[in-house]
Amino acid sequence: MTLIDEIAELKEKEQAVILAHNYEPGPVQDLADFVGDSLALARWAATTPARILVMAGVYFMAETASILCPDKTVLIPDPEAGCSLADTITPEELMTWKANYPNAAVVSYVNTSAAIKALSDYCCTSSNAVQVVQHIPAEQDILFLPDFFLGSHVKRVTKRQNLHIWHGECHVHAAIDNEAMTAVVEKNPDAELLIHPECGCTTRALAIPPKTPGLVLSTDGMLLHARTSVASQFIVATEVGLLHRLRKENPDKTFIAAHDDALCPYMNKISLEKIRDALLYHRYEVRVPSPIRDRALIPLERMVQIA
Ligand code: 13P
Ligand code: SF4
Repeated sequence: MTLIDEIAELKEKEQAVILAHNYEPGPVQDLADFVGDSLALARWAATTPARILVMAGVYFMAETASILCPDKTVLIPDPEAGCSLADTITPEELMTWKANYPNAAVVSYVNTSAAIKALSDYCCTSSNAVQVVQHIPAEQDILFLPDFFLGSHVKRVTKRQNLHIWHGECHVHAAIDNEAMTAVVEKNPDAELLIHPECGCTTRALAIPPKTPGLVLSTDGMLLHARTSVASQFIVATEVGLLHRLRKENPDKTFIAAHDDALCPYMNKISLEKIRDALLYHRYEVRVPSPIRDRALIPLERMVQIA
């Protein structure tokens, strides 16, 4: 029996589903029941009738699923699949920051631990961060965390001077900097530019004069745009795992990675073997304990309502 057949059999026996993020390795995406960005994964986890969810993604995504669906068993095939961005702020640091702005609303990107979400007022993803911030009364201070580049993008779009931004970054996206972008745009002047807001280039790349202005989009936003755009060539400034789905869905179009080395080591910890073992041994279960779960649910539900 092949590994894929083995997984299919175990999935049926366990009434399990596999959710994969858009950055997962190609074979993992191809096997999953659902592939999407952080927001889509959270929504799908909340609505599927399956009993067991295998999260082929990173740890905070499994925690988010557990917060939204406490009655389901959430498994992550490798508990070491963390996130360098989520690690840039601790609950103690957030409490100190909050003490300096006692009336501020805390907006946390979903790339944070459950403990950080529990100290937040709103969550957001890259696809709805602008909407969430626009929902907060104009006179209220906002503490936006942890991503500096996403925060800068939101500040520029919303023109909110009272939005304070944490200095965190994703090492994968930060490496897609102005220099990398300039080189790839110069080589491919006719390509459309799709930029994830976590990129180091986000605030400055738009100053590069490509033939068409760069579009700042989440991973699902890029997929949607590529499907509908009349362009035939795209420069993709995000983790390279997304190119698998872009190319699969648009075989007639050309997708060029802004940075060939933009590979998330955490997303790539997930493999078919580890998914099989997750189903076989019911490992590794991610369950957010009750007091934190109850508090972390509030900002997540607010986000889902706003978006
Ligand atoms: P998306 O919300 O666009 O899927 O991004 C998640 C992520 O981890 C980006 O690095
Ligand atoms: Fe975290 Fe960056 Fe990997 Fe996304 S790409 S999961 S932000 S380390």
